[in-house]
Amino acid sequence: MAAGNQIAPDPLAESGATHLTVVSNRGPVSFEHDESGELVARDGAGGLVSALRPLLAGSGATWVASAITEADREATARGWMTSDGLDLVTVASNPEDYAMAYDVISNGTLWFLHHHLFDLSRRPRIDARWWEAWEAYRVVNGLFANVIAERSPEGGTVLIQDYHLSLVGAALHERRDDLLTSHFSHTPFCSPEMLRVLPDPVARELLESLSAVGARGFHTRRWGDLFTRCTQSMRLPPVTTFASPLSPDVEHLKTMAGSAESLRARQWLDEQVGDRKVVLQVARAELSKNLLRGLSAFDLLLEEHPEWRERAVHVILANPSRQMLADYVAYQAELEHLVQLVNERWATSSWTPILMELSNDYPRSIAALGRYDVLLVNPLRDGLNLVAKEGPVVNERSGAVVLSREAGVWEELAGLAIEINPFDIAGTASAILSGLTMPEQERSERSEGIVHKVISRPAAKWLADQCLAATGKEESC
Ligand code: G6P
Repeated sequence: MAAGNQIAPDPLAESGATHLTVVSNRGPVSFEHDESGELVARDGAGGLVSALRPLLAGSGATWVASAITEADREATARGWMTSDGLDLVTVASNPEDYAMAYDVISNGTLWFLHHHLFDLSRRPRIDARWWEAWEAYRVVNGLFANVIAERSPEGGTVLIQDYHLSLVGAALHERRDDLLTSHFSHTPFCSPEMLRVLPDPVARELLESLSAVGARGFHTRRWGDLFTRCTQSMRLPPVTTFASPLSPDVEHLKTMAGSAESLRARQWLDEQVGDRKVVLQVARAELSKNLLRGLSAFDLLLEEHPEWRERAVHVILANPSRQMLADYVAYQAELEHLVQLVNERWATSSWTPILMELSNDYPRSIAALGRYDVLLVNPLRDGLNLVAKEGPVVNERSGAVVLSREAGVWEELAGLAIEINPFDIAGTASAILSGLTMPEQERSERSEGIVHKVISRPAAKWLADQCLAATGKEESC
């Protein structure tokens, strides 16, 4: 890749970034074998990828990501390296190292840490296996730093994403201090008290690495402030943070909503729910998404408000996630069990109160977002939560959004969404009821207000903010 490539979206040009490298665990494409055994590329999964890909398409930027599967490794070895006007660089770590780093540290430790999810009487267990995994995490991060250091032109801008890559910043700084770097966290950041569960040298290494990049970004100021408090608690030198919330790509969402697959899925959903009201949850089957309490709240609503029996359906579209972790497997089983219990309690011959689908079906999720009357977004703690912004963009019924105040997106949507404390089941039930009974004009004004927020702060702005922060053009806050 030659230096001096121009970056397509205009706001990026303002930052003066001459060559952009985006770095994330999941990349814009993943590979698999089709029925005939041929290697084929598919769009990569996840909100981060779907937001970034359209922004970078055709820009000539480089995207560095993990080779996650065997097929990804095979593609890496064959040198399949361009897609959509992007240079793709995959980092193929040793599979055992990758598994330890991803399962034990990224997902089993850092995800739980930043989301305050540890069941502290049992986890984390800092034992020999954990230390082995920490070493693997360092190796995987170091490999990323090597690849970026080798490929980046002088003075290039490097935007590192998320908790899988917390140590890339320091390793890269050691190798190439000419590069302009930023690290963006898509998760919340833990409190200083929670940080204390990590061994001190590990906590220090994490914070020092995040301090070694040129700029640190979060979806809200709340998470950035926690980062600052963590550094203070460990007596590390102060560094600045910046806050910039991501928005979904409106055009992409609308195109998806009109696609044949989504229209088919919508027909399927209409057949399932008829003319009943829909209370919708769309999320990964993930502990922080709080699906269990959402179900209990709907159960309580049916108990206390019999007038809603037969008239509403709670639709849950849950995408199975991280099935290598025992906690996730157990959570999913508990979810299925609770759905069964609630259905047994209330179902009639013509109505099943909960409709849950456990699969990764993006067109169906978009179709369901078009049909909700109440969108329930009740995470325990969430870096942002894009669904709360995506829903109103494609919804056709001026549906209400019931939103956890613990989601990063709450900062933007306060006053437009209906606030809940996600731990409070009775409060969540009454918020769902408010959404179901809210006068149409109010629902519509609030929903339009959310769409306005999304449009006025497009995803390109989020990307540009990272470039500006990395290049030092914008004052960090
Ligand atoms: C969150 C993280 C992303 C991650 C996604 C899916 O949104 O911020 O970095 O890709 O979850 O998780 P997974 O483990 O499937 O990549």
